[in-house]
Amino acid sequence: MASIEWTHKMSVGVPELDNDHKGLLAVINQLEAHGADEAGQVAVRRSLNWLLRYAQTHFAREQAVLTQCKYPQLSEHIDEHRDFVNWMKETIAAFDESPARATAETRDDLITYLENWWRHHILVEDRKYKSCAQENPTQSSRAAREVRGYDIWWG
Ligand SMILES: [Fe+2]
Ligand SMILES: [Fe+2]
Repeated sequence: MASIEWTHKMSVGVPELDNDHKGLLAVINQLEAHGADEAGQVAVRRSLNWLLRYAQTHFAREQAVLTQCKYPQLSEHIDEHRDFVNWMKETIAAFDESPARATAETRDDLITYLENWWRHHILVEDRKYKSCAQENPTQSSRAAREVRGYDIWWG
C-alpha cells in the first residue's frame, strides 16, 4: 500500500500547522506497519487513539488561527473537523467492541479512508484558508502556539 507523504503543495502557509499535518500523516503511515495478529490489533488501537488526540489538538490549533484571521468559512470548517472526530470515536468504539475486526483487510480499508480524508482535507479544505492565515504570519503562528496538547514535531 502506498504511503501518503507531505509535499510543499500541501502547505497552508503556517509552519506550525504544516508540522502538525506532517505528524498526522506520519501516524497514518505507521498504521501499515502493524500486523493482523493480537499484538498488531493492540498497536492499531493505540495508534488510533493517538491519532484522535493529535487530530483534536491540531483542529483546535487550526481553529485558533482561523478565528484570529476572521476566516469567513470557519463554521463550515469546524463542521468538517467535528465529523472526523465523530467518525474516529465510532471507529475506535467498534474496535473496542470487537478487537478481532482489526484484520489486515479492515486495517487496509481504515488506512485508505484516513489517507483519502486527510489528502482531501489538507489539499482542498485547509488550503482554502491559506491567504487568510498568511495575512498576518506572526499572529497566525502565535495563535497556533497558544494551543498546547499532543505534539510530535514541536512542543
Ligand atoms: Fe482543517
Ligand atoms: Fe489541518
